[in-house]
Amino acid sequence: MKKFEDYVLLVNNALNKSVPENKSVVCDAMRYSLLSGGKRIRSVLALEFCRVCGGDIYAALPFACAVEMVHAYSLIHDDLPCMDDDDLRRGNPSCHVKFGEAFALLAGDALLTLAFETIMNAPLSAEIKVEACRILSSAAGFEGMIGGQELDLLNENKDVDAKELKKADLLKTGALIKASCLLGCAAAGASNQMRGAASVYAESIGLAFQIVDDILDATGDTESLGKPAGSDKAKGKATYITLLGQKQSKELSEELTQTALSSLKIFGGEGYFLRELALNLLSRTN
Ligand code: IPE
Ligand code: IPE
Ligand code: MG
Ligand code: MG
Ligand code: MG
Repeated sequence: MKKFEDYVLLVNNALNKSVPENKSVVCDAMRYSLLSGGKRIRSVLALEFCRVCGGDIYAALPFACAVEMVHAYSLIHDDLPCMDDDDLRRGNPSCHVKFGEAFALLAGDALLTLAFETIMNAPLSAEIKVEACRILSSAAGFEGMIGGQELDLLNENKDVDAKELKKADLLKTGALIKASCLLGCAAAGASNQMRGAASVYAESIGLAFQIVDDILDATGDTESLGKPAGSDKAKGKATYITLLGQKQSKELSEELTQTALSSLKIFGGEGYFLRELALNLLSRTN
């Protein structure tokens, strides 16, 4: 999609300016993980929700960058030997393989902090920026992404039921995806009705996104994934593959995507891109 590529260019340009080159090992490690590709789904969602809610996407760009910073940090820490212990990320050696564990840890911490600094530098009102900090901090924290990562670790080598797995995935992956959409809404000063629709869309594609990630881990190859295939099985992770198997997992991801699509009604024709995006995420191969 041309529009998707345009958004990614905008985001990559802004991210490239957010961390200095040749300053320190930590900055090099931050740049390494932040600028190493990635689909940029979260930032695209932030920008597009801003647009469909009537806002200025250029003003929302710092919010879109902030969510990619938190995401990059989460991936650096997720790959550490004490967590998923994965050596490959986005087709390159993981941050800790390239820079060592201590610098990877610091680079992750610094990206998390930089996200909030970036929000505060947006050309938007103080009120909107405070709201954005609230959205992102709660989504990243112990009741959001970190809470999900905690459950993901506690669930290793366990038989978890559908309710427990859904909770873990809505937190570890869904929370940041939802925050992306709500950051776009906040930048645009969206109505409660629009925010409600964004929340339903985000929770549905967020869970579907992790289900597809689980399916790809079991069925994809390392080269096209850019991260180690079969990592979940090797680690004894509780996933949608272990809970439902491939076929039922796929069906569930399709159902969730349908729910996401129906939430877009209030945006009328303007919801077209978000509709295509949800469908593309379903059939992605990495
Ligand atoms: C990977 O996220 C981690 C999950 C939440 C499943 P992405 O699949 O969005 O990773 P990148 O940013 O494209 O590398
Ligand atoms: C990660 O889930 C979610 C995060 C918060 C990073 P996974 O552990 O399944 O993500 P991948 O497969 O390593 O990208
Ligand atoms: Mg993990
Ligand atoms: Mg992982
Ligand atoms: Mg995974």
